[in-house]
Amino acid sequence: MIQSAPRPDVLIIGGGLIGLATALELRLRGASVTVLSRDRREAAAYAAAGMLAPQAEALEPGAMLDLCLRSRALYPDWTAKLESLTGLDSGYWPCGILRPAFADTPPPPELNRPDCPVTWLDREAVLQRQPGLGPEVIGGWWFLEDAQVDNRRCLVQALSVAVEQAGVIWREGVDVWQIHRCQGEVTALETNEKIYQAGHYLLAAGAWTGGLLEAAPVQPRKGQLMALRPAAGQVEVRPLEQVLFGDRIYIVPRQDGLIVLGATSEKVAFQPGNTAAGIHQLLTEAIRLYPPLASYEIAETWWGFRPETSDELPILGPSPLSNLSLASGHYRNGVLLAPITAQFLTDWILDGKADPLLPEFGWDRLEAAVNVGSEAR
Ligand code: GLY
Repeated sequence: MIQSAPRPDVLIIGGGLIGLATALELRLRGASVTVLSRDRREAAAYAAAGMLAPQAEALEPGAMLDLCLRSRALYPDWTAKLESLTGLDSGYWPCGILRPAFADTPPPPELNRPDCPVTWLDREAVLQRQPGLGPEVIGGWWFLEDAQVDNRRCLVQALSVAVEQAGVIWREGVDVWQIHRCQGEVTALETNEKIYQAGHYLLAAGAWTGGLLEAAPVQPRKGQLMALRPAAGQVEVRPLEQVLFGDRIYIVPRQDGLIVLGATSEKVAFQPGNTAAGIHQLLTEAIRLYPPLASYEIAETWWGFRPETSDELPILGPSPLSNLSLASGHYRNGVLLAPITAQFLTDWILDGKADPLLPEFGWDRLEAAVNVGSEAR
């Protein structure tokens, strides 16, 4: 007689940062969890530069800023937990972010809150903080509390190890083709491998979410990135010690001297690859902001797809299907929002507990909500 595998409590569609962070939290709180991932390298987690930048991103006061600030505040403890679970470096670096200004750079929103310190530096002061800035820089805003994490080389590795050590079943190479449903609930997932079933389902498929559920209209927004390193024998006056967040460019130094440049923002569906125009934009804007980069070597180029919604806010919490939850559409802030998403979704799935912020990110605020009557059946 063929023994079928026991159903997990929760099946997660998506092995990106959001799926894995939530899988770990659910597992640590006692749930049995299986993650289905088509190809972990497709996740936006591998594409991002890892800025933790609610202030530099100029988020206006409101629910999204509150969510991002709460997640930024969770980062020290969350990454310390990953480090103690695995013994691996998480790559978290509370280095602060400098927003250099050209004459036409708009000022950031005035936030007036104690967790958002900001200092305006004139040209002389900004050059003291960061020697080598370009001649057009007139000053800059210093965001002490913004930070970064080395997402590609450290965070995803530490999280992957933590998830596997905790006993999450992680099925790589599984492509979810269809979410089967009946009478307002999910009955099974049809995949390239077999049919999967669970007590509860979490859709965290990033830019591919919209293709699986009409009620979660998430679109890809491509970003191209590259990394530079000092040329052999190059003597740096002073290595970059904070992120530089410019106009159409950010320059993210890692502690070993690698420098990540990001990112383009392109509506080109899932068109892969780096383009001459994309790399030209990154290099032109980066050298304008920080001319010493002109002599650096190109170490690597890559790209990825941000999951974007029409209002640029994530979709979190319940869905029109009673046993399916949503965690997608994190757009430019997926790395930043991983810890709070994991916390909110775990509370929601295991205890039905909704943080007061959760309804702000409901699926039913989006236009596609009007079309889902038939989908829920
Ligand atoms: N978080 C920056 C970006 O998406 O480019």
